[in-house]
Amino acid sequence: MAKEKCVLGMVGLGVMGRNLVLNMADHGFAVAGYDKDPEKIKSLNEEGAGKTVQGFDNVGDFIESLDRPRTVMMLVPAGAPVDSVIADVLPLLMENDILIDAGNSFFKNTDRRAEKLSKNKIRYLGVGVSGGAHGARFGPSIMPGGPRDAYENVREIFEASAAHVDNTPCVTWMGPGSAGHYVKMVHNGIEYGLMELIAEIYDIMAQGLGFSCDRLSRVYEQWNEGTLNSYLVEITSNIFRKIDEKTHKHLVDVILDEAHQKGTGAWSSESALELKTAVPVIDTAVQMRFLSTDKELRKAESGILKGPSPVFKGDADSLVENLKDALLAGFIISYSQGFSLLRAASKSMNYGLDNNKIAAIWRGGCIIRSALLEKIMDAYSKNPQLPHLLKDPILSEQVVRSQDGLRNTVRTAANLGIPAPGMMSVLCYYDSLRSSWLPANLIQAQRDYFGSHQYQRVDEKGTFHTEWSK
Ligand code: 6PG
Repeated sequence: MAKEKCVLGMVGLGVMGRNLVLNMADHGFAVAGYDKDPEKIKSLNEEGAGKTVQGFDNVGDFIESLDRPRTVMMLVPAGAPVDSVIADVLPLLMENDILIDAGNSFFKNTDRRAEKLSKNKIRYLGVGVSGGAHGARFGPSIMPGGPRDAYENVREIFEASAAHVDNTPCVTWMGPGSAGHYVKMVHNGIEYGLMELIAEIYDIMAQGLGFSCDRLSRVYEQWNEGTLNSYLVEITSNIFRKIDEKTHKHLVDVILDEAHQKGTGAWSSESALELKTAVPVIDTAVQMRFLSTDKELRKAESGILKGPSPVFKGDADSLVENLKDALLAGFIISYSQGFSLLRAASKSMNYGLDNNKIAAIWRGGCIIRSALLEKIMDAYSKNPQLPHLLKDPILSEQVVRSQDGLRNTVRTAANLGIPAPGMMSVLCYYDSLRSSWLPANLIQAQRDYFGSHQYQRVDEKGTFHTEWSK
């Protein structure tokens, strides 16, 4: 057991909290851990044997073990558990201490908590941590937001424990208030989009082309070696190789087709609605998770609602090429929508977000890390005020070049009756963006017709109303 005072105390020793403690200890920091569950303290002490970690089952002793100003990090499920931990530790904290929420909290809750705690002179940081259990143990991407001076206090620990790309830590201060949790929420929104698109492409290859799991694994593996290089494509390839110990079938084939969610994707969509920013890929991904869980309805309708045969009759190799291009365009457009949302939120909530830095810290450790983020980072380095990622010549050229594949993919999915709403929304978003004229003129006319809502004209300033039925 380490005798020195600890520089940080972790509340919540589930797999994420425990792994982050061990990670920090590996970098030479003395860290305390607290959990109400004695089993979790036991496993921290076992795994942390010989390291500068101490587990506590008494919250008073835990707080007492910390250096001043005390830094307490919470890694507990979002929602009520965070408020409950705050209620437990607050009476033991002192002015200037730092309380960190490193879970996936809703950003508005972070603002509410920060405001309340600032009355007690407690500095509150809302920190996004991405990378799952492995990332927490060996280097996550970290998105801290809140008082800058509080971040400076923990910066050394965060920089040492984060993933590194080109010798640069995947962590930097995002902005004040809930900026860190907002950025993490959008990270997850993009994650939902990428996962949906990868899944739709799998469906076309499995149903349309009859590809086996081994073949699917090889396709994603190959794609991962090129422009689609990314953590999610890499794990997808690995998933198709995994054999179920019980049935000896491919595990993916015995997993139920219902995708659940903890909320971050839907929060991104809700926030985008509030900020009037279009993020249709994220929206679609969230909606498709809802539809997936309506399994009973889908089962009932599957024999009734008729459609075409899903079997593709054309050239398989060229379809696979098209699918690859479609996925690349889909990835770029998913990131574009996420970064547009960040831009809108930064303006509305005065976060002062720097999209270049966000792209930089997403290059390593996190779930959406990919080779494309290097290009996105370059785009924002060249022009920090870039209004939209598709205004960057390199990224837009890549989408323009991929569009035939994207169109063929959407066409094929529609012809075969295989649902690909994410891909369809990617294409519609692309076509909407390049349309200097959308049929919204007719919508204005309809609103004015039935509700006297008035309309604007192309040839004159002002608002107008017409008595349409006269
Ligand atoms: C990450 C992940 C992580 C978690 C998601 C899953 O960045 O490490 O995003 O935060 O796995 O919350 O979210 P859903 O349960 O909503 O799919």
